[in-house]
This record gives sequence, C-alpha cells and structure tokens, in this order.
Amino acid sequence: MKDKQTVLKVDNLSISFTQYVKGLKTRNITPIKSLSIAIEAGEVLALVGASGSGKSLLAHAVLGILPGNATCGGTITYCGQPLTESSKARLRGKEISFIPQSVNYLDPLMRVADQVKIGLPRDNADSIQKDLFSRYGLKEKDGRLYPFELSGGMLRRVLFATSVRSGIKLVIADEPTPGIHPEALSAILNQLRKFADEGVAVMLITHDIVSALTISDKVTVLKNGSTVETTLAENFTDNGKKLQHPYTRSLWNALPQNSFFNYKGVSDWL
Ligand SMILES: Nc1ncnc2c1ncn2[C@@H]1O[C@H](COP(=O)(O)OP(=O)(O)OP(=O)(O)O)[C@@H](O)[C@H]1O
Ligand SMILES: [Mg+2]
Repeated sequence: MKDKQTVLKVDNLSISFTQYVKGLKTRNITPIKSLSIAIEAGEVLALVGASGSGKSLLAHAVLGILPGNATCGGTITYCGQPLTESSKARLRGKEISFIPQSVNYLDPLMRVADQVKIGLPRDNADSIQKDLFSRYGLKEKDGRLYPFELSGGMLRRVLFATSVRSGIKLVIADEPTPGIHPEALSAILNQLRKFADEGVAVMLITHDIVSALTISDKVTVLKNGSTVETTLAENFTDNGKKLQHPYTRSLWNALPQNSFFNYKGVSDWL
C-alpha cells in the first residue's frame, strides 16, 4: 500500500511576543511553548483545547500571518519542505485555504458575493459563487449585501464559501461553525470531510468536539500552549478509558452528554 503523504508537520513550535511595558522597556511572553501536530493527505485532524491554549496562533504561524512582534521556534514542514515566510505567502489561498475564526477578516466595504468570487476562475466565478451560496443556505440576494448587513451565522457561511477552492491541499478551519443552524453546520462538516476524502489535509479547530468527532480521523488536544495528546477520534468513547492523558479524559467526561464530571482547568473549555 502506498504511504500516505504528510502534508503538514509542526514540530515543537514555540511563539513569543515582545511587548513594550514602560517607555522603551520590553518584555517577552511565550504563550506557545511546544506544539507538535501532523496531518496526512485525506485526513481530518480536530484541534481542541481551552480558550487561550494556542489553537489560532498555531494556525496563524502555519499561514504566516502572525503579528510583527512575534518570534517562532521549532519547525513547520509542508509536503516535506520547510515552510518559509515567502512560501507561506505563495501558498496561502492557493494550496492552503484558511477559514478564520473572526468574521472581521471579511472586507467591510465589499459585497459578500464579490468576496467569495476572489480567486475563482474568472469565466465561471458567477456560477460557482451562486452554487456555494445555495450549498450553505445563503440566498442569491444576500450576495449583494455588505458584511454589516448579514447575521453572524450568515457571515460564517460566507467565510466558509471563500475557502472552497479547487487545487487546495490543506484546509485550516478555525472555529467554522459557532452560531450556525444545524443544517448549515452539517453542510460545513460534510464539506470538510469531502475535502479530506478527495485527498486534502484538514485541520478543524473547534470547541464542538462532539460535532468534530463525526468527521475527524484524529484529535490533538492542546493545553497552555503545549500538545497534550494526539489520539484517534474513535478513542473518544465510553468514559474515555482509551484516552491516554488525564486532561483529555477530563475534557471528554466534562461534556454534558457524558458524566458532566467537572475537572479543575477544563471549565473554560465548554
Ligand atoms: N498578538 C498577541 N500578543 C500577545 N499574546 C497573544 C497574541 N495573540 C494571542 N496571544 C495569546 O496567546 C494565547 C493563545 O491565543 P490563541 O488565540 O491561539 O488561543 P485559542 O486557543 O485560539 O483560543 P480561543 O479558543 O478562545 O479562540 C492567549 O493567551 C493569547 O492571549
Ligand atoms: Mg482561537
């Protein structure tokens, strides 16, 4: 059997920020200490962890969109090659597709249909955009609106539509589903699974582990800027006895549909 290709490999990533505290006095903070993940072609990796554990920063480091005062350590490889800042810029939006956590990434001054058309083949951008709108429950007339005229859930669906492109090898979806009604939620999850089934590597960052498990192959758990555990999605079952790390077991058991067991340190995750 042919070996699966590792599309993204992050080893021992650290991220520090230099901040001014008083006048010209600076200090360093290191919210990301040691993150390691790997995603193969055809695989959905769910990335979970408490708020502030470093999920978005990891995504931003891979995409090369960290703020200027950030310094990274560790290595990031894409299809076996080290990712440099210039290769990140070249691949972004072409081979690496990003669904950001914040809808503020949309241009407030551009009609949303036009934003979805960016990067689509010019000849059939119109019809692809209309198809994407209907797939994610948006009406044709919504396309003529500006972001401030749409609800939060609609904006999420517009953002998602901007990521569906041919030729992509890696999709990074940072919380693509909060505030979305169940039908659009399953359309988005199904699309992420479809990407993977077509050979794309998918990173799904989420707080909704129950939904994520329906489409994920593996789950990586982060805590305070470090990787706690990477495990198969199927190990999230029963009372979590197949999960290695007590923190992962606690996250799982803290869910309302499980024992609702409250473990110190996981309450902000839910
Ligand atoms: N530009 C920045 N300067 C300094 N610290 C930052 C910066 N951006 C993020 N951080 C810190 O890094 C940590 C990780 O942030 P990150 O946004 O990656 O969390 P997250 O896991 O995505 O959280 P959430 O689930 O709430 O989206 C947080 O403690 C945050 O305060
Ligand atoms: Mg985040």
